[in-house]
Amino acid sequence: MSPRKFHRVLFVCLGNICRSPAAEIIFRKMVDDAGKSVEFEIDSAGTMGHHAGAAPDPRMCEALSKKNYSISGHARQIEAQDLEKFDLIVTMDESNLNEVRNLDQKGRFHSKIRPLVSFCRNHSDLRVPDPYYGGQRGFDHVIHLLEDGCMGILEELR
Ligand code: 4NP
Repeated sequence: MSPRKFHRVLFVCLGNICRSPAAEIIFRKMVDDAGKSVEFEIDSAGTMGHHAGAAPDPRMCEALSKKNYSISGHARQIEAQDLEKFDLIVTMDESNLNEVRNLDQKGRFHSKIRPLVSFCRNHSDLRVPDPYYGGQRGFDHVIHLLEDGCMGILEELR
């Protein structure tokens, strides 16, 4: 049997209280359900440090709880070292993608940085929209996109 590959996956959004913690929670459950938790390190971060230490947004917690996900995690800001450490850095929108690329001044890690929507099989959305200033339906839509993209990531890394 060939040795199993180990994958480090980091999800990134702006505040690390809505989209990327939800992606982390959804992807971790998918990996656990596939019996692959020993093969993955999964984390999330925000490009902005404003919410550092905060739990996920209550509206995102409500949307996740409706689908039986358990909530965990606290916000942190992405650091330049994360680019070195993680094998795959998954961004939610163009702004996150540009911010993360800007941390990679020499362009050494550009191939690791990919938009979540590039992994979606069933949605053609161009981004995972920021739900922060919208209503509860925006959070539900984010979860649908994240589930689609996370399944695509798991299949690609299989
Ligand atoms: P997130 O959402 O990037 O998905 O965590 C946001 C959280 C906070 C703010 C914006 C978006 N904010 O402006 O404080």
